[in-house]
Amino acid sequence: MEKDIFAVHRPQWRTHIGFLLAAIGSAIGLGNIWRFPYLCYKNGGGAFLIPYFLALILVGIPLMILELGLGHKMRGSAPASFASISKKWEWLGWWQVTFVMFGIVLYYSVVISWCLSFLFFSFNLGWGNDPNNFFFHKFLMVSKSPASLGDLRTPIIFSLLLVWLLNWIIVFKGVRRGLERANKIFMPLLFVLTAVIVFWSIRLPGAKEGIAIYLKPDFTRLRDVRVWMDAFGQIFFTLSLAFGIMITYASYLPRKSQIVRDSFSISFINCFFSLFAGFGVFSILGYMAHATSVEFGKVVKESIGLAFVAYPKAISMLPYFPRLFGVIFFAILTIAGLSSAISILEAFSSAIIDKFHYSRKIVVSVLSVFGFLGGIIFTTQAGLYWLDIVDHFLTQYGLILAAIFECIVLGWIYGVKKLRTHINHYARWHLGRWWDFSIKFVSPLILFALFISSLRNEVLTPYAGYPWLAIILIGRDWLIYTLFFAIIVAAHPWRVEPRERESSS
Ligand code: PHE
Repeated sequence: MEKDIFAVHRPQWRTHIGFLLAAIGSAIGLGNIWRFPYLCYKNGGGAFLIPYFLALILVGIPLMILELGLGHKMRGSAPASFASISKKWEWLGWWQVTFVMFGIVLYYSVVISWCLSFLFFSFNLGWGNDPNNFFFHKFLMVSKSPASLGDLRTPIIFSLLLVWLLNWIIVFKGVRRGLERANKIFMPLLFVLTAVIVFWSIRLPGAKEGIAIYLKPDFTRLRDVRVWMDAFGQIFFTLSLAFGIMITYASYLPRKSQIVRDSFSISFINCFFSLFAGFGVFSILGYMAHATSVEFGKVVKESIGLAFVAYPKAISMLPYFPRLFGVIFFAILTIAGLSSAISILEAFSSAIIDKFHYSRKIVVSVLSVFGFLGGIIFTTQAGLYWLDIVDHFLTQYGLILAAIFECIVLGWIYGVKKLRTHINHYARWHLGRWWDFSIKFVSPLILFALFISSLRNEVLTPYAGYPWLAIILIGRDWLIYTLFFAIIVAAHPWRVEPRERESSS
């Protein structure tokens, strides 16, 4: 009986395209627009596409199929799905959603709030003649070191409040009326606006040189392990994998679903979007190099500098409608960011609702308040440093650890074959034995190698000059606290046993 009660109560996407757009919305985020083009430039231009697409095929797509398949079969959020496999592994699901909810989304929302502020600055090109000085000294007022927090930056707090208000409204309204409806507006808008920016930029003088630099392959860079690490790390981050998000979104799918086809569509659309957006980014940088006769290498900055320093500078130089261009560019970033932030909030909310059966409205409201308060550290004058450290740690280590465990639990404990049979039962595109091999051997081995080389690198070349020991200690404490939290929540008894969620398949 309980099984039926659960099935009736589980929300479901109204349309298949609604699900696809929501999953693509989660995948396409700030990372696609400012992180990918920069990584490409730094890591050998067109040559970077080789490790990038290899990472996509070797681990990205197999893990996407795994997460969508797991959520679909177990019909539950990450903790509920892992608990359905075995109660012993429920903590892993909690750990994943805790990572994103009390880690990534806190600083991610702060970056969205910068984008929102810059959207407003665009109306009068408020960054003036020296965007570098404006961003670091007037807007962020960056302090000397991570330890000197300084004051809270009131303008950033206000836009952060706005971002959390939007996150809250959308997730509060639920799967159909909130997430699905928002993404049905956000995604088409995002595609149209991005196309406008790309076609506008590639016609500017100097654009061709910019694109040539973006894509010109330098194969010698492929000998550097860090290039490969960047490629694999970026694939996980960009596909929103290993944090239980795709598991949650797939749990709202109807029984008859095309998991394999959807996994391919979501992953490829996301990666092509990155590639496409890169044309816009590099065209405009090429234009700037052309207009100022400055060497190209000097106009390309680190990822954050790219969006908030180099771009504003280029926008101010545009011959026609620079304000409109600025508004569109920062609107793209804001929309892409919001559609990812809501997926994180949903993943955690859904986990709490599954286990404790509290009302969605209460859970989402409480979490939104926490999210806003938790983000405040990043709105201090030392916010940029903290953001950088937390981002580096979570994307380099947290993500990879969570993915390794996911492969082990599914590949070796539950048995991938069982999941493959389930997926193939409904899928028109049949999943072959290669997938089992990938989940059991290829993905965990690559991930493990990545984890070790990240650690090694940390010691050899301290990240951005921060003392490596401090990063490792902060990281270690973070891992222990979140793990502790995950284990305690997992030990709490269920209202409805998760095993019963695995409705007939
Ligand atoms: N995929 C998002 C991006 O590329 C980031 C993200 C990571 C979103 C993890 C949700 C979870 O920006």
